[in-house]
Order: sequence, then structure tokens, then C-alpha cells
Amino acid sequence: MASSQKLRIYIQEVSVRDGFQIEPVFVPTEQKIALINALGRTGLAKIEVTSFTSPKAIPALADAEAVMHRIDRVPGVQYAALVPNLRGCERALACGVDEINVVVSASESHNLANLRMTPEQSLVQISGIVKQTAGKAFLNASLSTAFGCPFEGDIPQSRVMEMVGRFVGMGIHGVSLCDTTGMANPRQVYEVCRAVKERWPALTLTAHFHNTRGMGLANALAASQAGIDRFDASLGGLGGCPFAPGASGNVCTEDMVHMFNAMGYDTGVDLGGLIELSKTLPGLVGHDVPGQVVKAGPSTRRYPVPDRQQAAASNSTCG
Ligand code: COA
Ligand code: ZN
Repeated sequence: MASSQKLRIYIQEVSVRDGFQIEPVFVPTEQKIALINALGRTGLAKIEVTSFTSPKAIPALADAEAVMHRIDRVPGVQYAALVPNLRGCERALACGVDEINVVVSASESHNLANLRMTPEQSLVQISGIVKQTAGKAFLNASLSTAFGCPFEGDIPQSRVMEMVGRFVGMGIHGVSLCDTTGMANPRQVYEVCRAVKERWPALTLTAHFHNTRGMGLANALAASQAGIDRFDASLGGLGGCPFAPGASGNVCTEDMVHMFNAMGYDTGVDLGGLIELSKTLPGLVGHDVPGQVVKAGPSTRRYPVPDRQQAAASNSTCG
């Protein structure tokens, strides 16, 4: 990559939705708002603020209206919300969201566990949502379990193509390919993303990876090589679907920004600002978070050089 051609990567923050939805503690509304306001000032392209789901299904996000109404909207940042059905869409539109993100799984069993509907029933809801949303908000569809399902295993590429084709046929503007439980590998990601990109070059495509098996950043890199320039990521690496066994966090935002910045991409994101916010997460959720750059510091960080006597005295062995 020539340095004169800085390629743009759009980072879309999901910690306050995908992250908080699986936390057993309820993060108080004021603290959610303060975090979203601070995130909005770091240069992120989009923030998925909350979800308008049943509060019985996702109690952690039961304050969706209060949060959506009271956050500061930083110009240039898109404020999105996840919705599972028509009722959720009505609630989100009433709060003036910039983007409605509908969700449906590639696999039947995950859709039943997550939304208590078959994928076909979800698609009926989504076609109503397309009509309801027309001209009022950007419409994105998240395809969960696109790279593998914890109940059913492999998801064939043909199934992904079929579902994306259904979304495009309905007039949906953007699609997120979601690896809900970190089952994707980089080769598969490259092949699936390349196929979708070639078939629908004008579609706004996002890659959404979870780091459940340690392949999250490798998958993001493979997706970028396939031409994807939009990535969901979660501060501190929080995240996970409460209705998928073994779910764990998304790719960590500051780790992803660190990687793409270090490679010379333009993410537009203030890494130092993100790291400072990531440090506040354990205080909000009550446990350590998996992000790595927040612990090690950016690779540009330099430590004082130890003097010879000190080094000899420590007599350490390094691997
Ligand atoms: N917002 C608020 N309440 C909603 C709602 C919405 N979008 N959709 C349904 N409800 C309420 C109903 O009014 C009903 O309330 P009641 O029990 O007080 O009468 C209750 O939820 C159940 O409604 P029903 O239509 O029977 O839904 P369900 O029980 O079959 O659940 C969903 C379907 C989609 C509402 C539910 O599974 C859900 O919210 N899932 C969210 C999944 C999610 O966010 N997963 C993580 C992200 S991928
Ligand atoms: Zn997710």
C-alpha cells in the first residue's frame, strides 16, 4: 500500500449495544449517555446506541428511549439502533435514529433462539420495516451466524448470498455480515466477502466479527483485503449474543484502530481517546475487559532503556 494512498476504514462502535446487552449488570442510563457522548468525539463513523427489543429479552437495554433521546449527536457520526421487529422500528423512529439495523440469522435455530421467529417470519417483519422506514432513516440488515452457527455448524456461502439477495431485493441500503460466535476463519471471510462484494458492488457492506476463537482481527484483515472498509468493533472487546451458547466479545475497537492505523490506513479515530475510555469500562461493567492495546499501550510507545547494571542484576531470561 503506497503511503500517498491512505485508504479509509470506517469504524462503527457497538459496545453500548452488543457489549452491554450481555452484561449481567445494568449500566445506569446516565453512564451510558456519558460514554456514548465521549465515544462520539473520538472520530468514530457510527455508534450503535442501543436496541429497541423486548425489555424482557434484553433487560440491560430497557432504557433505549431515554438514552437515544438524551445523547449529544455529534455532526458526522451516524447514530444507529438495532430492532428485531416492527414494534422496535416504530420506537426507534420515534427517537429520530439515523439508522435502523434489522437483524435476522442465516440459520433457523439461532433465529428461533434469538428472536423467537423463523428467518422467514423475520423477513416478513423486515419487509414491513422497509415500508415503515422509507425516507426516514438508513436501513441496514445484520445477517447473524453468517459464517457459522453454534447450533447448526457450517453455513454455506450460498445461504449468505441468498439472504443478501433477499435484503437487496427489498430495498435495504446496507448489510452487515456477522460472525456471531467467532466461527469464521480468514480464508472463509475473504471468500464470502469477495463474493458478496463482486455480486453487489454498490451495497454498503460491514463486517462484524467476534473474537471468540481469537481470529477476530485476522478476519477483519481478510475482509479488508476483500474490499470491505466498514467494521463493527466494541470498546474493550465487550460483547456477545445472550441467546448463543459460548458467545463472547466483539473485536476490540482500540485494538482494531491500532492495527489499521499502524498499517497506514486512515480510520479517522483518536486512538489515545479510545484507550482512555476503555480504561473506564471495568468500572462500568464490574470486570476486566479483553482488549489488549489498553494494557500494552500502542506499539509506538517507548519504555526507558534499562542500564547495563540493572539488566545484569535482573538476570532474566526472555522467550
Ligand atoms: N419492544 C418492546 N417490547 C416488545 C417488543 C419491542 N420491540 N416486541 C415485543 N415486545 C413485548 C410484547 O409487547 C410482549 O410484552 P408483554 O409480555 O408485556 O405482553 C413481549 O415483548 C413478548 O412479545 P412477543 O411478540 O410475544 O415477542 P416474543 O416473546 O416472541 O419475543 C422478540 C420476540 C423479538 C420481541 C424478543 O425475542 C426480543 O426482543 N429479542 C431480542 C433479541 C436480541 O436483541 N438479541 C441480541 C441482538 S442480535
Ligand atoms: Zn455481535
